[in-house]
Amino acid sequence: MAVVRVDPVRPDPEDLARAAAVLRRGGLVAFPTETVYGLGANALSAEAVRRIFEVKGRPPSNPLIVHVADVEAAKRLVAAWPPEAEALARVHWPGPLTLVLPRKPEVPDIVTAGLDTVAVRVPAHPVALALIRAADLPIAAPSANVASRISPTTALHVEKAFGDRVELILDGGPTDVGIESTVVDLSGAEPVLLRPGVLGAEQLERDLGGIPLARTARTERPRSPGQLTRHYAPRAELLLFEGPTTADAVAAARRAADAGRRVGGLLLRPLEAPFTRVVLMPDAPATYARRLYAALHELDDAGCDLILAEAVPEEPGWAAVRDRLHRAASGGPLLDGC
Ligand code: TXA
Ligand code: MG
Repeated sequence: MAVVRVDPVRPDPEDLARAAAVLRRGGLVAFPTETVYGLGANALSAEAVRRIFEVKGRPPSNPLIVHVADVEAAKRLVAAWPPEAEALARVHWPGPLTLVLPRKPEVPDIVTAGLDTVAVRVPAHPVALALIRAADLPIAAPSANVASRISPTTALHVEKAFGDRVELILDGGPTDVGIESTVVDLSGAEPVLLRPGVLGAEQLERDLGGIPLARTARTERPRSPGQLTRHYAPRAELLLFEGPTTADAVAAARRAADAGRRVGGLLLRPLEAPFTRVVLMPDAPATYARRLYAALHELDDAGCDLILAEAVPEEPGWAAVRDRLHRAASGGPLLDGC
């Protein structure tokens, strides 16, 4: 495995040519996008894509996002391009938005997990875009983490997760957005939000001219297969506490520390408790999101076996961060059982 450092804005064409050659011969390349690092393979080769599932330990029932350079390339993979797709792609591509649309037969079954839809996205990262163009291929890429572990926001996170099982890692520095793209399903009668992201549902509804986005929980449609409840999880047990339960959090930290456990804090405000390691988080959603996965990796690396995480505000702007925290939490929103 090689880690190749590239300038995040003007990557060296020779480095890109080398990565593109790996993809073209069926290998895996990890690369930065504006959200998180992706683990990429040639989306048109079932053999190459199979390696992604093997290396990640991803269940074959969980389909992948195909990354393309522009709307024209997306249209080559989908069987329909409704006005809603045009409206959202025009405003948000390149960007942290994934659209689920009816697929063309050319997309291998393994990419879509046998579904009749395919997820497509144009990433807003110069390295990702240049790689897609250099390879001249659509690139299937899930987040470059072992299945149901924390997504990577640095090349080091990827290296630690996969070591030699990935041919090449393009290191373009830490990612900007920090959590995965918003996923919207446009394949049915009504648009459905399958995964919240920093690009909020309210914004997308405005861009759709006021058409409401159904939230997955409120629809009859099957949930996005990747939305397993325990996802994005650190190795440590993570417990969420709300502000008014601060005293409980302190007590829980004491009990855990007394029992010899290493306790981490993921906090918006300092808290007097026997923490092994504390990460004080920014109190705005965009900067919190950028920092979140690196903070969880850091607490894991510090050997914490319990993480006490302060809940974030119940406001629409925090929806995506709240979603990821709840998925990372193993014990639900209170502190029982620590
Ligand atoms: O920001 C991102 O989206 C990153 C970067 C690398 O682009 N990728 C990413 O991929 O988060 P992944 O595989 O970790 O998450 C893809 C999500 C999963 O929840 C999956 O179930 C869903 O998209 N998905 C993919 N294809 C789908 C389809 N045809 N129908 C419904 N959901 C789909
Ligand atoms: Mg993922």
